[in-house]
Amino acid sequence: MTIAFSDIFLEELAVRNDIVDVVGSYVSLTKKSGGNQFGLCPFHSEKTPSFSVSADKQMYYCFGCHKGGGVINFVMEIESLPFPDAVHFLARRAGIAVPDEGGYDEAMKRRERLLGANREAARFFRKLLSEPLGREAIDYINRRGISTAMVRQFGLGAAPEGWNTLTDHMTRLGYTQDELVAAGLARRGKTGGIYDAFRGRLVFPVIDVRSNVLAFSGRILGDGEPKYLNTSDTPVFNKSRNLYGIHLARKSRAEYFLLVEGNIDVVSLHQAGFDSAVAPLGTALTADQARLMHQYKQEAIIAFDADSAGQRAADRAIGILEKTGIRVRVLRIPDGKDPDDFIKNHGPDAFHALIQQRETHIEFRLLSLRQKFDLDRDPERVAYSQEAIALLAGLESEVELEVYGRRVAEQTGVSLESIKAGVKRQREKNRNRAKRRMEKDGSRPAQSAQPKERSLRYQNAYSAVAEEGVIRLILTDPALFQEPPPLTTEDFSSSFLGRAYGVLLERTLAGKENTAATLAPLFPPEEMGRLMHLLNQPESLPDSRQSLADYIKKIQTEKLKQSPEDNLQQIYAKYKEQKGVDKDE
Ligand code: UTP
Ligand code: MN
Repeated sequence: MTIAFSDIFLEELAVRNDIVDVVGSYVSLTKKSGGNQFGLCPFHSEKTPSFSVSADKQMYYCFGCHKGGGVINFVMEIESLPFPDAVHFLARRAGIAVPDEGGYDEAMKRRERLLGANREAARFFRKLLSEPLGREAIDYINRRGISTAMVRQFGLGAAPEGWNTLTDHMTRLGYTQDELVAAGLARRGKTGGIYDAFRGRLVFPVIDVRSNVLAFSGRILGDGEPKYLNTSDTPVFNKSRNLYGIHLARKSRAEYFLLVEGNIDVVSLHQAGFDSAVAPLGTALTADQARLMHQYKQEAIIAFDADSAGQRAADRAIGILEKTGIRVRVLRIPDGKDPDDFIKNHGPDAFHALIQQRETHIEFRLLSLRQKFDLDRDPERVAYSQEAIALLAGLESEVELEVYGRRVAEQTGVSLESIKAGVKRQREKNRNRAKRRMEKDGSRPAQSAQPKERSLRYQNAYSAVAEEGVIRLILTDPALFQEPPPLTTEDFSSSFLGRAYGVLLERTLAGKENTAATLAPLFPPEEMGRLMHLLNQPESLPDSRQSLADYIKKIQTEKLKQSPEDNLQQIYAKYKEQKGVDKDE
């Protein structure tokens, strides 16, 4: 069920939600010349900002991944919401009422219900801590040395042993069985009834940057499997996109995040004053989580467990974090411990000292590499040198190369000169590989001007350039289109541009304005991105009336070339030509 919001309402919504403010709450933006603000694109991984926001045009566009649109499109994209939900999201943000409540989207209502259920459940678990049912959990909290302040800050709670403690409470509050199962708070038994998903556990609510309770992670109080139980993905929770502790850590004054493996590590570090600790939720770090970190801070310090699994995970996390452009550092925690154990045994000052000695990822990787080889044996020294050279070749700073090159030289007895020569060769190899890849991608110029999405590819790139010109003019200079121009949708070679022309022309002729907000419901995201791209291309001619005439002429000539008669003539001409050649032989 879709409902039509009026243009007036959509415009109002856009005016009340300035795009720079909205985007700015997800992406850190810096002003550049020309009025646009730039930041790192939240939709793809990059190291230099190609994501632009224009306050004048109230639109965003990424020059890297070509996503673009107005404020509504941005919310649809970044919150993964369908159009009506994004409208409600922005209405709530601006505190304005959405007309036609009858059209309130069902999925949105459900999301609200599930978030409400999670919030109530968190409240209930927390309350149980001060009741006899929470006795065991309190004992556990004390055994782990978690302070009352942290219990409160993280909203920890008790899920008691019984089968229906939570479900009974929630049912009394009016939540249905189906809602409780959908939220991951309950499971359905074989006989059709439901029972509590979290039993006999200390529960950690998973809270997002907007303070929604998205999910829970429960630590078993005694022995048993699994040690930690996490809510599976639900309509309100995607574990690969969230980090435990982010709601607190993003506000920390530290310029770095501390990335640890476990929930307990997060709580324990916050308690010791390291309030920028976060943890993935029972999975290996994902690219989305890495981007989430980079949205708030410039540095990530990995502090994974010192066991071999933790070190392997750190190695993987380095690669994922590096791709976002965030600065990566690694802590080496002595004697096989995790941060929680370390702090318990050595205190916050010792942990602070570890942070001071954090290693660059090169140091960390060199050391990890070093441990794989027995450098007393020649063949292993050679192998180690070669792998180290490949690592060093990735360094951008010559100073770093000097420092770490020297270290490898000392370890292996290979001269610094040979190592540097090896690095040079390796860099050349890398460059050639990159060049070949580029040539492969960019060998056909017409191809590189094509939209990325296959469905939007142009059949006739020459005509499409003119067709795009017409669309740009209709958006930027609607006065030119007060009278319908001698151009129909069938004249367009690209069905997307033809359709866009039809929609935009009809609206213009009806006196409607075409803005990012009013167009948001009419075009899917890829198409919206393409339209924003067109708006970012400067008009090459100063006289727009003349441009329009030229574009129309171009489109019509190209169309004639494509007409069936024309094709027949071409085929015939070729045929005659070939005959001529045949005769000569
Ligand atoms: P660990 O097993 O390293 O636990 O799991 P820990 O942090 O040392 O916890 P304590 O000190 O024994 O209480 C680290 C993280 O891996 C996930 C959890 O997110 C946990 O915090 N995990 C672990 C699970 O999701 N399920 C499990 O069964 C175990
Ligand atoms: Mn532990």
